[in-house]
Amino acid sequence: MSLPPQRAELFYTGKAKQVFRTSDPDVYWIHFTDGATAFNGVKRATIRDKGEVNARISAHIFERVAAAGVPTHLLGAPSPVDHLVHRVDIIPVEVVVRNLAAGSICKRLGLEEGTALPRPMVEFFYKSDELNDPLITDEHALMFGWAEAWELAYLRHASLKVNQVLRAFWDELGVTLVDFKLEFGRAMARERRGQILLADEITPDGSRLWEKGTGRHLDKDVFRRDLGDLGDTYRELFARIFGEQLHGG
Ligand code: TMP
Repeated sequence: MSLPPQRAELFYTGKAKQVFRTSDPDVYWIHFTDGATAFNGVKRATIRDKGEVNARISAHIFERVAAAGVPTHLLGAPSPVDHLVHRVDIIPVEVVVRNLAAGSICKRLGLEEGTALPRPMVEFFYKSDELNDPLITDEHALMFGWAEAWELAYLRHASLKVNQVLRAFWDELGVTLVDFKLEFGRAMARERRGQILLADEITPDGSRLWEKGTGRHLDKDVFRRDLGDLGDTYRELFARIFGEQLHGG
């Protein structure tokens, strides 16, 4: 039996996560922090329990997504705030799936927030903090070498599959899935070379979740728009999913 990979040096610090190398070159260690940012880092705060809620929700959802046939980077959770993942080369094309119009699409196209879409919509954004993640077309991704045609086709197909899984999941919990963002990566391990894995996270930081009936926001818009206490909102979401209070209340 081989030992589980041991955490080694920190090599990337994001807005809400840190990524470490491990004793296995094909495995990374992701630590979820309590950091919260919005508007590309302009607004910042520390929210108690946020790292743990996000790590546990993301692991739970990734397991369901994998069971539905979309491979993910997740290997396991060595602690409630850490994930062990396959090392991937992140594709710099972020995928947003929308079921209702909200956020940037409303500003861009003059739609009212909450407008139903006739079918789920997939949008691509170029992953670039300097440029504020602009909306792009397939043509941009192909022309500038960010992804190949078959990869874009896979991203669309897999994201719509994830949407089906997530919509059913949130629906059962009395929550409407409005939209969410996904990131994918190309596996680096020799035996997996070329395989595309769902990467990063699926959390209320990168999703819009509205309580059915009331329309109350149960996601990071609470922080972006100053609608209440983000920590309380995230702990409430945790209790809905797992049927128990985080840390026993
Ligand atoms: P948007 O309305 O700002 O385009 O965002 C759509 C969804 O994607 C929303 O749930 C938030 C999420 N998202 C991120 O998680 N990170 C980002 O950088 C962006 C632009 C959106």
